[in-house]
Amino acid sequence: MTEPKPAIQTVRGMHDVMPEKAALASRIEAKAREVFASFNYSEIRIPVLEYASLFERAVGEGTDIVEKEMFVLTDRGDRVLCMRPEGTAGVVRSYIENNLSQKYPLSKFFYIGPMFRAERPQAGRFREFTQIGSEYFGNAAPFADSETIAMLVFLFRELGIQEVEIKINSIGCPECRPRYQAALLEFLNSKRQDLCEDCQKRMVKNPLRALDCKTDRESLSKAPKSTEFLCEACQSNYNEVKADLRMFEVRFTEDPRLVRGLDYYSRTVFEVYPSSKAGSQDALAAGGRYDTLVEQLGGESTPAFGFAMGLERVMNLIEETAAIDQLEKNTSIFMIALGDEALQPSVRLMNNLRNELKGEKVSITGTFNAQSMKSQMRLANSLGARFCVIMGSNELQENSALVKDMKAQSQEKFEVSKISSHIRLKLAENNI
Ligand code: HAM
Repeated sequence: MTEPKPAIQTVRGMHDVMPEKAALASRIEAKAREVFASFNYSEIRIPVLEYASLFERAVGEGTDIVEKEMFVLTDRGDRVLCMRPEGTAGVVRSYIENNLSQKYPLSKFFYIGPMFRAERPQAGRFREFTQIGSEYFGNAAPFADSETIAMLVFLFRELGIQEVEIKINSIGCPECRPRYQAALLEFLNSKRQDLCEDCQKRMVKNPLRALDCKTDRESLSKAPKSTEFLCEACQSNYNEVKADLRMFEVRFTEDPRLVRGLDYYSRTVFEVYPSSKAGSQDALAAGGRYDTLVEQLGGESTPAFGFAMGLERVMNLIEETAAIDQLEKNTSIFMIALGDEALQPSVRLMNNLRNELKGEKVSITGTFNAQSMKSQMRLANSLGARFCVIMGSNELQENSALVKDMKAQSQEKFEVSKISSHIRLKLAENNI
């Protein structure tokens, strides 16, 4: 006897997405596209593979993403490449490389796609995950910040998530942040013995990183607040962002120790959490202003603001809270051909129905495998088919078919040319 071959499994942290979840993901993506379009955003698609140096320069050498989480590989020319851990750096690279400011005077872009981070897998944290994100270039006005956050709230509502918790902060600009960093470093030094090993290292490279630590929350609860160190320009900018958010009727809370885990931000940063009623405490979305990044990556100085939403986390929340009705399922029609001679006319009828019912959200299928009526009906039932369209020798002679309404448990015979209008009528009647 030959040994059974060992089965190959998914790579750690990677997930298959089963049809029900994939359908939910598509629906969320479709909603996001609609919302982006209504705020005048255009889609941009950027590569999954970029030079690793892009993320080192953009996200920052001292960040967890760059230090520990990048999926790095070397190509045959010994170039160091990286599976993108986030979307902003790639969009900025593209903005500069393709001179997008010239072609798109209102440079508002969105993207939907997979990102890769070698994080320790746990609930809501994956090594491959999907971000729905946007980047808005060229508008330094606080209005751009608040409009983007308002757009995100609008998207959550469209997805049936009425309440989210928005935390905002301002981390200042390159002018005033050094003063905050110095104060923070002094505070961290005073707490040194209580800090975890990671934070002791982080302190040296970038003290702001320590505020992101999940382990040292307690010791850091008295850390200085970034808002106490803002220069006048940053302070008034922050005040305007908050006033504009109120104008958009967006509710938010201020978190003066919110700093984000990526280095490119300046001024406004924000994170969105499920409302306190919902279970998980992972951020559903996050973003902020990054006015120096374009220049830092070799372009002309350009203000910018963006965010990214984690699709899987949003899906989990929707499933936990049943925020939207189950997917608008297609009404399904199951074709049953009885006997060899019914096969061809049934397939022809199925093709016609597909054409005639286009746009009606129906799916039409059949196995055409010559099994008994009983076993085909059983399958139709288990698929949740709403209608069965049955053709046997009697129907063939009359150029007709039986339409069985599985919900009403009734059946009627129709001439084949009348079937689609009958089904359309039923769909309208029942609003299925
Ligand atoms: P981020 O906070 O690193 O920001 O990620 C944004 C969102 O992606 C998170 O709030 C979360 O929902 C999701 N996410 C991140 N890591 C994981 C993971 N391992 N598993 C599942 N979901 C995850 C950025 O990436 C910035 N590029 C956002 C941005 C755009 N800022 C300006 N423009």
